[in-house]
Amino acid sequence: MANNKLNKADIIFSPYSVEPYEILKNTMQKDKTFVVNELIESGLKGRGGAGFLTGLKWKFFAAENNEEKYVICNADEGEPGTFKDRKLLVEVPRKVISGMAIAAWIGNAKHGIIYLRAEYKYLIPELKKELAIFDEYSKKFGLTFSIEIFNGAGAYVCGEETALIESMEGKRGEPRNKPPFPIQNGFLGKPTLVNNVETFASATMVCRYGSTEYKTYGTKDQRGSKLFSISGDSPKEGVHELELGMKISDFVNEFGDGDTKAVQIGGVAGFCIPRKEFETSIIGEGNTTGGATMLFNSTRSMYNVIHNYLDFFAEESCGQCTPCRVGTQQLLKGIEAVKSGEKPDTYLDELIKLSKTMKITSKCGLGQSVTNSFASIVKNFREEMLY
Ligand SMILES: Cc1cc2nc3c(=O)[nH]c(=O)nc-3n(C[C@H](O)[C@H](O)[C@H](O)COP(=O)(O)O)c2cc1C
Ligand code: SF4
Repeated sequence: MANNKLNKADIIFSPYSVEPYEILKNTMQKDKTFVVNELIESGLKGRGGAGFLTGLKWKFFAAENNEEKYVICNADEGEPGTFKDRKLLVEVPRKVISGMAIAAWIGNAKHGIIYLRAEYKYLIPELKKELAIFDEYSKKFGLTFSIEIFNGAGAYVCGEETALIESMEGKRGEPRNKPPFPIQNGFLGKPTLVNNVETFASATMVCRYGSTEYKTYGTKDQRGSKLFSISGDSPKEGVHELELGMKISDFVNEFGDGDTKAVQIGGVAGFCIPRKEFETSIIGEGNTTGGATMLFNSTRSMYNVIHNYLDFFAEESCGQCTPCRVGTQQLLKGIEAVKSGEKPDTYLDELIKLSKTMKITSKCGLGQSVTNSFASIVKNFREEMLY
């Protein structure tokens, strides 16, 4: 299956050919170390953005010796352009819940929480019905693990795992210093595993098929399939499951409108790739793994695009650290000043330097990632920034 072309995949969204709770039951009959090693071997990486090896994270979680441990499913989904997790929770919730339960079984955790984006409140009644069904199964399997739902309050930064935990503890949703990582010191100071919705669903499917079959999808560095939330100038907007490893040009041929001039990969925290770089891999070095992909055609002003992103970052910065709180506002004012002619075009180079400083001095991924879209848009579409 794996090659460099774009292949549609049907692993995560396939209908339940095997009931996910049967996958859970079958998995629980195996040796825990074997299951963790299978996950590591599969090469599955977290689908929330940072791309950490899932099996390794679960191994660290299992090694934590504590009576009270938590498994959290991160369904905050606040990255602009991302809407895949909602679809998973609506269409295949049992794959997500089974993934959480397998992680809990491996790590001896009794408590699970789905951290649901504020705007997804309307999903709660259906999810609660699913959780009641899961309770019946887990009792039958002898698994002591129950899952609750926590509804967020609408801040993008609360998708960051430590801000998420702070908000669950009733505090301001602000990122913590790391280390310690949630695996050692998370919710209520206890070992906590946080994974994205899609990561849990994918882990269930690794357990279903085994690492050898899973690895036939994707490439050496990017294993398996991935959900892409596709929006912008595309006749095929929506969530699509694709085998990893394709080039951006294959993606644009399939999902573009014939006039694509840029593709934003990994949401606003990711990179904006211009046409001249379409021959690179869609999840290359540095690109985030969230899967929000926005296409822009030649009618779009890239000044408006970056203005929109900066507006978002300035609004969503939690304000805890100066580089991000002040930097996002200065970048916004700066591009406005160049556009109005108040500042010369060389001022753009100063702004790029500022964004790079933010990368090394900001406390969390929000401030650290601003330079990705900012520098890639300003460098590649400089003439559109000018007066
Ligand atoms: C500002 C910010 C927002 C984030 N939002 C989300 C989110 O909505 N969902 C998510 O799964 N991860 C989000 N993350 C990443 C999480 O901190 C964490 O890495 C992820 O939940 C780990 O899961 P994974 O290993 O399955 O990817 C965000 C990170 C940052 C810095
Ligand atoms: S980088 Fe921004 S969002 Fe993150 S802690 Fe600092 S101010 Fe808050």
